[in-house]
Amino acid sequence: MGGIDQAFVQEPEQRPKSSTIEVDGIPVIDMSVSGTGGIEKLASEIGNACRKWGFFQVINHGVPLELRQRVEKVAKAFFDLPIEEKRKAKRDDLNFTGYHDEEHTKNVRDWKEVFDMLIEDPTFLPASPDPDDEEIRTYSNKWPENPPEFRETCQEYCREVEKLAFKLLELISLSLGLPANRLSDFFKHQTGMLRLNYYPPCPSPELALGVGRHRDGGALTVLAQDDVGGLQIRRQSDGEWIPIKPIPNAYIINIADALQVWSNDLYVSAEHRVVVNFEQERFSIPLFFFPSHYVKVAPLDELVNEQNPAKYKEYSWGKYYINRTGSNYKKLEAENLQIDHFKTPESE
Ligand code: OGA
Ligand code: NI
Repeated sequence: MGGIDQAFVQEPEQRPKSSTIEVDGIPVIDMSVSGTGGIEKLASEIGNACRKWGFFQVINHGVPLELRQRVEKVAKAFFDLPIEEKRKAKRDDLNFTGYHDEEHTKNVRDWKEVFDMLIEDPTFLPASPDPDDEEIRTYSNKWPENPPEFRETCQEYCREVEKLAFKLLELISLSLGLPANRLSDFFKHQTGMLRLNYYPPCPSPELALGVGRHRDGGALTVLAQDDVGGLQIRRQSDGEWIPIKPIPNAYIINIADALQVWSNDLYVSAEHRVVVNFEQERFSIPLFFFPSHYVKVAPLDELVNEQNPAKYKEYSWGKYYINRTGSNYKKLEAENLQIDHFKTPESE
């Protein structure tokens, strides 16, 4: 069908439309603050974006442009290598880091190749999703030999974007009326990763997606996209898919599931997807910011009261994560684990 493998073909209702609506709704927030009340104003802009969209872009974010350009260069050099070379750093059953090109979202194969690396090396995660299994496994990064500067550049980039993620976490806490450091302790042994995404040109972009519709499972995503464009978010008001316009040197920030739960649904983890392109390849680099494995995610006490009962039951981040990761690599019978599974009966 359309010259591509059936595994990539989306159900008709999921296929991208040939025309998209252009809107400027998704806020672009300047992070440079000055004067009295600067921080409060910034936090309030972020809070509004988190409530309305769950997505915003930031400029003047403090991550050096030169470093971003270097990481984009090594990403391109890596994905340009012959497939046998890339597969030397392939993900395997014991270690989910490294290269792979077989990811599925909602059981349809994504038109993309990725390289995943842990921000913390080593990272500690449960050995299995089984709630009674207390074994913890230690994961370390797998690195390719080429390009030679790949490892060092990616590690340096992780450190800088991680700083931005912590800064955003503080602003988000403030925006919820909480102390700046309210969420910080959840990330003492954070389990997040940096992903290099490569979306090759696709002969049938009307049938496939680079990433099928999904919500990010962690706390926060900090994404660099190139100037090709393709990321779309689902507007809450009418379900339309809205493209996120590339802005040079900006970062796209989105609220992910754990923050939706901590905020007791004040903030939204919005559904998004990636459309692919007939002619152009596209690169994007998300940093997925995840809590420590032992963190129990539940609505924050300060945001829950009699009028606003907790909308979610507590769940273990580590178990949830391991459960979801298992389903990314292969087709499953059912949809993978989502925060909706932890909704309390009062919230239905
Ligand atoms: C993701 C994602 C968007 C993009 O990897 O979870 O949503 O623009 N990526 O690549
Ligand atoms: Ni995503």
